[in-house]
Amino acid sequence: MASLEVRNVSKKFGSLAALSSVSVQAEDGEFLVLLGPSGCGKSTLLSMIAGLEPVSAGDILIDGRVVNEFAPKDRDIAMVFQSYALYPSMNVYENMSFGMKVRGVPRPARDAEVRRVAALLQIDGLLDRRPSQLSGGQRQRVAMGRALVRNPKVFLFDEPLSNLDAKLRVEMRTELKKLHQTLGVTIVYVTHDQIEAMTLATKVVVMRNGAIQQMAAPQEIYDRPANLFVAGFIGSPAMNLIRGVLEEDRGRALVRVARATDGDLRLFAGPFLAAYGQYAGAPVLLGIRPEALTLAAGDGDERAAFDTRIDVIEPTGADNLALVSVGDSDVIARLPPGKNAAGDRVRLQIDPERALIFDPASERLIR
Ligand SMILES: Nc1ncnc2c1ncn2[C@@H]1O[C@H](COP(=O)(O)OP(=O)(O)OP(=O)(O)O)[C@@H](O)[C@H]1O
Ligand SMILES: [Mg+2]
Repeated sequence: MASLEVRNVSKKFGSLAALSSVSVQAEDGEFLVLLGPSGCGKSTLLSMIAGLEPVSAGDILIDGRVVNEFAPKDRDIAMVFQSYALYPSMNVYENMSFGMKVRGVPRPARDAEVRRVAALLQIDGLLDRRPSQLSGGQRQRVAMGRALVRNPKVFLFDEPLSNLDAKLRVEMRTELKKLHQTLGVTIVYVTHDQIEAMTLATKVVVMRNGAIQQMAAPQEIYDRPANLFVAGFIGSPAMNLIRGVLEEDRGRALVRVARATDGDLRLFAGPFLAAYGQYAGAPVLLGIRPEALTLAAGDGDERAAFDTRIDVIEPTGADNLALVSVGDSDVIARLPPGKNAAGDRVRLQIDPERALIFDPASERLIR
């Protein structure tokens, strides 16, 4: 297994800058997920790591060695595509052993390797079948099996689950996670599905327009998104953003929210950080996850509580999503199921420890 480093890599297609000076590191055994909307450059980056596309600038390093000039076959990398790209006329056994055959691996070694990997992926009963005789999930496992028999240093996956139906996708996600835990391999995995990224990754790289927005552990990305784009992209429903003005009160950060009736609200949003200094008296966005906005239980800080009316209730089964207004901002609170109805007056509180302050001009988290 191996480490991977992408150092200041750029990619141009004619006049289009598909990637602008991207740097990414994956330690040995890392499950690195590249996450971002369509067209942000995820597949391009993966293709350059694989050696299928040359870089326009920068370096790709595997185990500390620059591999820019190495052909794909010499990079010790296996790639699993969204389409799986299985050979339709070969059965599963042949699909899995073909690469080794081309490289001149002797038959007994090939055979042992196919059987070892097939057992691992539980496709040993399918070795005689053609791809057309397999389900989507089985094809996906064969594509992974074909990559695994090579024993590569790094695995690259480009949206390998996107062709599967929702239930199978969740099952295969778990399988993939188990496989990673068992083998401890280094994986770079592309997806535009934020749940997939959260559940699989040891490290998430959020991309937009060919540039990295944030690279961190999934929980860090969720709890402390670096900017409004990341805040909006991760989490469903999205993080609430309440417009207000930042104030300091004896070391505490307060966000003053103007209301049409009942006067201004001053919401306690945690300690007044040093970085907040230059924003005192300035417009800010108070970011708070729906689950950090709950019914006031009387045990929270009164300065973080406020009265409001529920406009809409959306039950999810596990909880009720309640739409309420705070000043001129619409926000969603995650409330216990079955309790409240539209029109109810409720007292809500935010968790000040989970409150974030964003600069609306730069769109960055202030910290
Ligand atoms: N061979 C190419 N020639 C010209 N432009 C390209 C080429 N490949 C990709 N692009 C452009 O580069 C940008 C990034 O494409 P890329 O395929 O990496 O996006 P992606 O993040 O994988 O998107 P998706 O989620 O839709 O697969 C896009 O604007 C795309 O149109
Ligand atoms: Mg792509």
